[in-house]
Amino acid sequence: MEELKAKILEKGSVVADGVLKVDSFLNHQIDTNLMINIGKEFAKKFKDANVTRILTLESSGIAPSFMAANELNVPLVFARKRKSLTMTDNLYTSSVYSFTKKETNEIAVSKNYLEKGERILIIDDFLANGQAALGLINIVEQAGAEVVGVGIVIEKSFQDGRAQLEQKGYRVESLARILSLENGTVTFL
Ligand code: G4P
Ligand code: NA
Ligand code: NA
Repeated sequence: MEELKAKILEKGSVVADGVLKVDSFLNHQIDTNLMINIGKEFAKKFKDANVTRILTLESSGIAPSFMAANELNVPLVFARKRKSLTMTDNLYTSSVYSFTKKETNEIAVSKNYLEKGERILIIDDFLANGQAALGLINIVEQAGAEVVGVGIVIEKSFQDGRAQLEQKGYRVESLARILSLENGTVTFL
């Protein structure tokens, strides 16, 4: 997606260890016009997949998922990372290990918002090692629903997330694919 790639080049900065900082439009401040177009792009890619619901992960997955869900006219549900005061039981949960942060997080989705037989599109902001996506897939499978694809805003193609997902047979659609962040420079695939 050219608009996204241009924004990454204009506003992104490379921080140590292959991490791209995009706080000014995706991870902290949100560029709403860009998010709307990102949502439309996901909707276009998955328009024939008969998606019944979008599943993402708080917090940074929510903004790019919103317009996709609106365009596809399906509900959007986000997995929670923090314990909710009111969401205490009747949950699907999965453990997600972050190689970047060296910590494990429990993620949770209420059983009320994922139904057996559904066709779920998973969306997230970044794909690095694929652990978040695999955790979401695990939750979809617990619900007896099907993952019809994984939509990613920024894929770090030098990490093995895509391989992890494709090896298991999942369709991955990334709007920007980064080959390298070496020498502080963003190189797209
Ligand atoms: P993985 O799920 O692909 O294995 O990713 P990893 O554990 O490496 O990622 C942990 C967190 O760091 C995730 O956010 C992920 O989106 C983010 N992340 C990974 N690589 C980058 C990067 O190069 N740049 C930025 N900006 N983020 C990256 P999170 O902890 O779930 O946070 P959030 O959703 O609340 O923002
Ligand atoms: Na993030
Ligand atoms: Na994320």
